[in-house]
Amino acid sequence: MTAWESAVQEDLGRRVDELDTPVLCLDLDALERNIARAAQLIAQHGKQWRPHSKGHKTPRIAQRQLAAGAIGITCAKLAEAEALAQAGITGLLVANQVVGPRKMQRLAQVNRITPVIVTIDHSDHVHMLAQAARMFGGKFPVLIELDIGMRRAGVSSPHAALELAQLVDRTPGVELAGIMGYEGHLLEVPQLEEKRQKIFRALDILGETRQLLHQHGIACPVVSAGGSGSLPITLQHPAVTEVQAGGLVMMDAYYRYVCQLEGFEHALSLRTTITSRPQPDRAVVDAGLKTQHVAYASPVFVDAPPRVQLLEPSAEHATLRLEGEAQNLGIGDRLTLVPGYSDLTTVLHNQFHVIRNSTVVDIWPLESRGLLR
Ligand SMILES: Cc1ncc(COP(=O)(O)O)c(C=O)c1O
Repeated sequence: MTAWESAVQEDLGRRVDELDTPVLCLDLDALERNIARAAQLIAQHGKQWRPHSKGHKTPRIAQRQLAAGAIGITCAKLAEAEALAQAGITGLLVANQVVGPRKMQRLAQVNRITPVIVTIDHSDHVHMLAQAARMFGGKFPVLIELDIGMRRAGVSSPHAALELAQLVDRTPGVELAGIMGYEGHLLEVPQLEEKRQKIFRALDILGETRQLLHQHGIACPVVSAGGSGSLPITLQHPAVTEVQAGGLVMMDAYYRYVCQLEGFEHALSLRTTITSRPQPDRAVVDAGLKTQHVAYASPVFVDAPPRVQLLEPSAEHATLRLEGEAQNLGIGDRLTLVPGYSDLTTVLHNQFHVIRNSTVVDIWPLESRGLLR
């Protein structure tokens, strides 16, 4: 064990306010309630849950999601799927295109442990997978990704999806599991009725595609969509069979205040310390951009006197403006904040300090952190 690892282990059993900062904490009770709430909400709508794991990158959280009823876990990268498969997780989806001969070989290998669905949006993907099936054996399940307005990956129409599905249908070694689209461009629409209408119009494209495939005799069991920032709306759409919302189990300021997601608790927090008080209205804490991501939403300070405001952070420091009562804060005082955007904050840390009743009860490494290939 390295000196750093043993220092982290020494934190077990400590009170959270005694931990050196900055430290990323996960409230275990809140996490478990969020997982149960998401699972229940999704089941109530008759949908299935394959939560995205790119935000937590932690098999222990994935295992809890499966225990609560998730049918599998979504990943962004093949390496994340490999790590989860090694940890015994099944029902894996890489919601991304997997490309290149070396990756085909790795995909074939991981498929021997547990089937991994990948997404495709071009005939080249089908040919690569078919060649891998010939070389390494096995069958590759795929979802056809549609661009439902995000202008990222995905075929651009139901008809293009049909052509690709027909190619999959006649290609040995590749099998169609269904279709996928992500309404990520609509998460921030401020007016909720307008957001609902726009998301429904985007998801209608998936419904039309599924119908077209059925008309041509092609089964399409899976229609996958949905993130934390759109979950309550996506769950209402009749065409969707499963949702990928994942980050909401940790819950950050972006989901809550920009995407207006309600009903989930802030399980994730960052503890910081005031390290400098250069002016009555200025404090510096030890949580700069290498500790937290603030681009999509500002962090929210909890349990702090009113009127603590984050100014532009730099790499290692975050400067705060203090007004009123907050000016009583001094060097060594600690502040707790809910990260602005959890997805890009967690990956800056090696582990979560897992807290129950204000005490560190476990330390979970972000095992897939850095697994980008
Ligand atoms: C393909 C895909 N699905 C789902 C999500 C939503 O993930 P989360 O619920 O963790 O925000 C994302 C986020 O970027 C995504 O790219």
